[in-house]
Amino acid sequence: MVGTSQEIGADSQNISNRNNTNNLDSLAVVILAAGKGTRMKSRLPKVLHEVGGEPMLFHVLREVESLGVPPQRTVIVVGNGAEQVRAAVSKRGDYLFAEQIEQLGTAHAVQQAETVLTELENSQPGSAKQVLVLYGDCPLVTAESLQPLVERHFETNPLVTLVTATLPDPTGYGRIFRDPLDSAFRAIVEEADLTPAQREIKEFNAGIYVYRADWLWKSLREVKVSPKGEYYLTDLPEAAAATRFNHVENNENGENSYLPVQTVAIEADEVRGINNRVQLAEVDALFRRRIITRFQLDGVTINDPSNVYISAETEIGQDTVIEPNTHLRGKCRIGSDCRIGPNSVLENAVIGDNCEIVASFIENSTLEEAVTVGPFSHVRGGCYLEREVHLGNFAEVNRSRLGTNTKQGHFSYIGDATIGEDVNIGAGTVTANYDGVRKNKTVVGPHAFIGSDTIIRAPVEIGEGASTGAGSVVTHDVPAHTVVAGVPARELKKS
Ligand code: UD1
Ligand code: CA
Repeated sequence: MVGTSQEIGADSQNISNRNNTNNLDSLAVVILAAGKGTRMKSRLPKVLHEVGGEPMLFHVLREVESLGVPPQRTVIVVGNGAEQVRAAVSKRGDYLFAEQIEQLGTAHAVQQAETVLTELENSQPGSAKQVLVLYGDCPLVTAESLQPLVERHFETNPLVTLVTATLPDPTGYGRIFRDPLDSAFRAIVEEADLTPAQREIKEFNAGIYVYRADWLWKSLREVKVSPKGEYYLTDLPEAAAATRFNHVENNENGENSYLPVQTVAIEADEVRGINNRVQLAEVDALFRRRIITRFQLDGVTINDPSNVYISAETEIGQDTVIEPNTHLRGKCRIGSDCRIGPNSVLENAVIGDNCEIVASFIENSTLEEAVTVGPFSHVRGGCYLEREVHLGNFAEVNRSRLGTNTKQGHFSYIGDATIGEDVNIGAGTVTANYDGVRKNKTVVGPHAFIGSDTIIRAPVEIGEGASTGAGSVVTHDVPAHTVVAGVPARELKKS
């Protein structure tokens, strides 16, 4: 509970600011990510557990940024696994951090951000006048649904605007207790403190709030410790609500119309929190389904959505078909009229139009148009396959470029190679690119014919239109338009 009687002066002063040019530039963000996550039973900090293939915290960060608040005005409160969380987040942007050394509850966590946000406000006056607080374990929230919250807050200028949702069974969430007479917000009641009557309440606290900064910092100091030894942020809206009749702002009917607490409703699915691994799987499923629905509505065929995994940063063109058990990870860009899967994994892959990838794995590589891969092939990092390249069964390609219409049909390994166009790479071909110390290069000119079971001992260059006989071991450069065979391979003279 918070003492409230002294607030009158400050509040009435600020109410008259209601129509001032408040906008997103005065909004700073605090994301709570310090909690122990005890219920996860994990050594990994809760907010780094993955949803949609990325740490759950990243989704919150992405949405806050697309709302319009940059990393430089976003404070992440870290504690449990602080170094790990910091390291992960720093790859995404230049965020501010505050450390909560002991996890003494959500109010105590927000309090840790006061110093850094006060410094920000002092160095850039007006930049942290309002504070949006979110929890790092609610990764389904979207910028679109934060927008009305922020707008309501700026329009009405209360002490706090909080987000609520309803569920038939909101077990585990703090419930919203309203005034029986006029339904004005009165308090958030945590699960453990519910009276039997309050158990019937379906409206719950989503854990997303915008606070007026000066009131927030002052009031946090007055939060009392709970019987469990924690300081609950949920005490603040109640304290704000208690100031309701301390000041009077009459509407045209002469009634006091001021509400120190505004509430905004949100879809319950958007604020599903993750406290244990059952909820982790549920949220992950909702997250994936949302992405897939977006692609389906944009013209991508995905007939078995529950068995397709697509990252938030993937792009897919029209009339592409994504078959079951396909995983599109990281940043994939896939063209139109492709067929990907079944059973394929693509990670940071750029795929041109009209490609077909069956039961194969493609990492950090680019495929031009009409490339076909699989089944059972592996395109490893740093590959570039030009138009109409065909990789058949058990082809492995690593750090190599294959020219237009080159075919590598059957079990073979091409590494550190540049292969020209229209090359036939026979079954069992291997570039022996590694001598135990260095990775050596292979160059194969256009229209060459590499016979079955050729070993190419790099570094070596095979000229345009040259051929190697079945079973040859190429140890020296092969001039253009010649035929070599044998071990080691020698030129076959025409007789
Ligand atoms: C909280 C709310 C509850 C709301 C629910 C919505 C409180 C007291 N209760 O409950 O009303 O319905 O979220 O999901 O706020 N954290 C810290 N430091 C701490 C404690 C927590 O950073 O000392 C962070 C956690 O990492 C987590 C977030 O705050 O991201 C929420 O904490 P959690 O313990 O999960 O709160 P809930 O019990 O879910
Ligand atoms: Ca939670």
